Amino acid sequence: EQVAQDIRAFVIEDTAQLEAFRIAYMGRKGHIADLFDGMKTVPNEEKKLVGQQLNGLKQLAQERFDEAQEKLAGSQTSAAKLNLDFTLPPVPNTLGTRHPLSLVREEIIRIFGRIGFNVSEGPEIEDDWHNFTALNFPENHPAREMQDTFFVQKNPDFLLRTHTSTVQVRIMENNQPPIRTIMPGRVFRNEAISARAHCMFHQVEGIFIDENVSFADLKQTIYHFAKEMFGEKTQIRFRPSFFPFTEPSAEVDITCLICKGEGCNICKHSGWVEIGGCGMIDPAVMESSKIDPDKYSGFAFGMGIERITMLKYQIKDLRLFTENDVRFLKQFESVV
Ligand code: PHE
Repeated sequence: EQVAQDIRAFVIEDTAQLEAFRIAYMGRKGHIADLFDGMKTVPNEEKKLVGQQLNGLKQLAQERFDEAQEKLAGSQTSAAKLNLDFTLPPVPNTLGTRHPLSLVREEIIRIFGRIGFNVSEGPEIEDDWHNFTALNFPENHPAREMQDTFFVQKNPDFLLRTHTSTVQVRIMENNQPPIRTIMPGRVFRNEAISARAHCMFHQVEGIFIDENVSFADLKQTIYHFAKEMFGEKTQIRFRPSFFPFTEPSAEVDITCLICKGEGCNICKHSGWVEIGGCGMIDPAVMESSKIDPDKYSGFAFGMGIERITMLKYQIKDLRLFTENDVRFLKQFESVV
C-alpha cells in the first residue's frame, strides 16, 4: 500500500525525473523487484494474493511511467523533434515599399481631388484617331512618324499611346460639360534612354471644360498644383508653345529643385525644368468630340510624372525608376 502511494506521489516533471522513477520502481534492483524477491518468504496460501498485489503495483508503475512519458513528449517543443535551433537569429521578414512614381501619382490625385477633379483612365494601346486625328494632328505631322511612335499594327493603325491626351478625347466623346478630371497613365515613345528620357514614362493629363473657362483659370490651377506639390515658395513660368490640340498653348517650367539654381544636367544649367504642356482646348477638338465650342470652353494640361518626382525628391537620373535597385526604392519607405 505504501509503495503504491509513493508511486502515485512521485514527481515527474522532466526526463531526468522520469529516468529516476524508472530505476526506483521498475528497474531490476528497484522496489517492486525487491518485493517480488520477498515472495520466497511468503507462505504458500498467501502467495496468490500477494502476487496479485505485486502485479497491480507493477502495472501502476508502468501506467505512471507511460503517462508521464507521453506528457513530457507533448510538452517538448516541436523544435526538439525537428532538430531546430531557436537560438539562431530570425530571417527578417522584409516589407516592400511603394514606388516613388506611385507615391507622387497618389499625391497628384489628392491635390487635384481637393479642387474637384476626379480620375479617369484609358487604354495604353490606342488607335490613330484617339492618339492623333481627333487631337487635330495634321496628316503628315512628324509625331506620327515611326521614330517617335511604337506601332503595334499599320493600316488600320494601332499604337502604344504617345501621350495621355488620348484619354481627353475618350472623356469628351462620352461626357458633356462640366467636365473636371485628371488622367494619369503610362505612355510610350521611341526615344533613346538617358538620364532625362525613357521610351516608357508616365503623364498626368487634366481637363476642365465648362462655360467661361479661361486661360487665367488654367494658370491658377497649375500654380496651385505647383505650390501644393513643391511648397509655397515654388515659382512657375509659362512659355508660349504649340500643340495641335490647344490654342493658345504653353509649356510650364518650375524652378529647378534639383540643383536649386546651381546648374545641373536635368535643367541643362538653365535653372528651370519643364514639367508639361498646356493650353486652351482647340474648338476643332471639342467639335470632333461632340462638345459645342460656342457654348463651352476648357483648358487641358499634360505633365510628366517622372519629372515631378525627380524635382520633388532630387533624383538626378530617370533610369533609377526602372532599374528596381532596392537601395534606391528603400529610401521611400517612410513616405506616406
Ligand atoms: N500631350 C502633350 C505632350 O505629351 C502635353 C499636353 C497635354 C499639351 C495637354 C497641352 C495640353 O507633350
